Amino acid sequence: MTFSWLQAPKHSVRSISSLILLLILSTFHLSLQAQESIDQAKWDAGKALFKSQCQSCHLPDKKMTGPALQNATLRWEADGEHQGKSGKEWLYEWVRNNSSVLESGHPYANNLYQEYGKSVMSLFPQLSNEDIDGIFYYANNYDKGAKAVGVTVPGGDAPVSSTFPMKTFLWILILGLGLVAFILYRVFNSLKRLAAASEGKALPPAVPFWKNKKLITLVVLAAVVFLAYTTAGSAMALGRQQSYAPTQPIQYNHQVHAGKYQIDCQYCHSGASESKHSNIPSINVCMNCHKNVQAGQINGRKEIAKIYSAIAYNPNSGTYFAEDASDEDIKAELTAYLMQDYESSAVNQEELDATLAAAFEMYDKPVEWVRIHNLPDHVYFNHAQHVNAGKVECQTCHGNIQEMDVVAQHSPLSMGWCINCHRQTEVDLGNNYYQVYEKFHEDLKSGKMDKVTVEDIGGTECQKCHY
Ligand code: HEC
Ligand code: HEC
Ligand code: HEC
Ligand code: HEC
Ligand code: HEC
Ligand code: HEC
Repeated sequence: MTFSWLQAPKHSVRSISSLILLLILSTFHLSLQAQESIDQAKWDAGKALFKSQCQSCHLPDKKMTGPALQNATLRWEADGEHQGKSGKEWLYEWVRNNSSVLESGHPYANNLYQEYGKSVMSLFPQLSNEDIDGIFYYANNYDKGAKAVGVTVPGGDAPVSSTFPMKTFLWILILGLGLVAFILYRVFNSLKRLAAASEGKALPPAVPFWKNKKLITLVVLAAVVFLAYTTAGSAMALGRQQSYAPTQPIQYNHQVHAGKYQIDCQYCHSGASESKHSNIPSINVCMNCHKNVQAGQINGRKEIAKIYSAIAYNPNSGTYFAEDASDEDIKAELTAYLMQDYESSAVNQEELDATLAAAFEMYDKPVEWVRIHNLPDHVYFNHAQHVNAGKVECQTCHGNIQEMDVVAQHSPLSMGWCINCHRQTEVDLGNNYYQVYEKFHEDLKSGKMDKVTVEDIGGTECQKCHY
């Protein structure tokens, strides 16, 4: 078949296609307008803060340790006015320093504090009004922002999270073009029939389009391409999960340990400078301090009780439980320890039972920390090489862990991310480790090169990173 439709009267084809184009453009415009109602940059920034600072205790839509934060702004605007200051101003202060708000006698805040069994919320003096606005913007609209965290291009830039609904646009375009092709095909067929009829030629019987072999082949082909595309896409994203911040079995907090108390990262992750893997510390390391530190400011004894239970330690006597200790004895000791969180008149029995059950469940078992960073098996990554030889700071790859209540994956861990850094980062040839690179030393001296990057020493060769 030749595409003789070009010979068809031009104006009719043109007016049909411009009509369709108009249709596509107006749909696209509509979809853009629907997206515009959310300020994606603000939403993303708010979400990041929410996840790193608030999510250990709050969800947007459900009650957890603290109330659901969706519409908290409205609640404070409605009921938060006090001592001549607006609810909004008090809300900023609440987030930065809730204890001063409670001390001021603020009625709404004090009621809430009672309602939540005097659970203490952390202080966030570092957050600006703008940060806080962002957090509540996210909480109020948590279900409205773009779901995709970012699109990474192998070898390209760091992830770009775009406000532009590229996917929607592409789909509309593909559907639109398909429709155009289909209509043009029909038009062309009718024209051919008309032309043939006017010339008095005999015609083959009309084939309905659902029986048309060419069309069926085309549809099957399109389906195969679509499936291959989506499968490859999800396979590539598998195991790559930027911002992943799972809830851990013990609410261990980096902001408290590495931030407030400035404990060196390698006190716990000693593997990072010596071996391929950076280890998660064993409970024995925790016990170096927690034999003495028996309560925290955030959760009191609730989380530390799990440490004791996991290692079968009795905090009341300072000894380990005997092998044959009965469940009742263990529970009684843990309860006595946990009771110290309450004034004798105000025991929240329900909370106490839940806390005891959660701790006892972990008794004498290894703690099952949920792994956050995880490269696929075909990639070789070595911490010591980066931390020791390369002198790359933990924070360059992991973000400001010392400010996180809950660890979230900071970098995309994509191939493009690794390679970008290798292209840009200079290696320090003064380091004895690099004495082998005689040639580079000479080139640097003679001025042939002004710097040597990780790429120059082979850091973008496939077999360096792939088994
Ligand atoms: C360690 C747990 C914890 C963390 C972390 C935490 N909160 Fe809270 N929050 C609470 C608790 C518990 C309450 C209930 C009041 C109380 O007991 O102090 C609360 C109450 C609130 C309220 C009042 C809600 C209402 O219904 O009026 C707001 C607003 C709030 N938190 C915001 C935040 C923000 C924003 C963050 C993060 C920057 C945050 N919280 C982090 C525990 C926490
Ligand atoms: C007191 C011990 C301790 C200190 C100090 C500490 N960490 Fe951790 N770290 C842990 C524990 C326990 C976990 C596992 C639980 C979690 O993810 O919060 C962990 C998890 C992590 C993870 C996520 C591991 C994964 O599953 O992918 C990273 C990354 C990390 N720490 C980096 C750091 C950095 C960087 C510092 C210094 C700024 C630091 N840590 C300081 C104990 C510690
Ligand atoms: C070098 C000392 C040290 C080590 C090691 C250490 N901690 Fe802590 N931890 C502290 C101190 C100090 C506090 C009290 C923080 C505060 O002021 O509330 C604390 C508090 C806590 C809290 C309570 C937080 C709160 O306020 O509710 C938990 C849970 C906790 N640590 C878990 C762990 C775990 C799990 C480990 C081992 C992976 C560990 N810690 C290792 C010093 C340490
Ligand atoms: C060049 C980037 C980079 C630097 C620098 C870096 N890490 Fe990592 N880290 C990673 C990657 C990538 C993974 C995932 C490794 C895997 O899945 O095999 C990871 C994983 C981890 C884990 C989880 C356990 C593991 O090894 O899989 C911990 C804990 C950790 N890093 C802590 C640290 C600490 C502490 C430092 C600083 C002393 C540090 N990292 C420096 C990139 C880095
Ligand atoms: C923040 C920068 C940075 C990032 C991100 C980074 N690297 Fe590197 N990498 C370096 C530096 C600096 C060196 C040089 C240290 C050395 O000489 O071994 C290096 C060296 C290496 C080497 C040894 C190269 C050679 O020729 O000896 C391998 C393999 C490697 N990186 C793998 C990875 C992988 C896999 C990732 C991603 C998961 C990654 N790196 C991410 C900075 C980075
Ligand atoms: C600096 C380290 C590094 C180098 C050099 C490198 N890769 Fe990768 N590659 C990675 C990482 C990390 C991943 C995993 C990305 C992920 O999980 O999305 C990966 C994934 C892949 C994948 C799986 C598809 C995907 O995106 O997950 C293929 C195929 C691949 N690399 C091929 C190559 C080839 C071919 C070369 C040489 C031209 C090469 N890589 C060089 C780090 C590297």
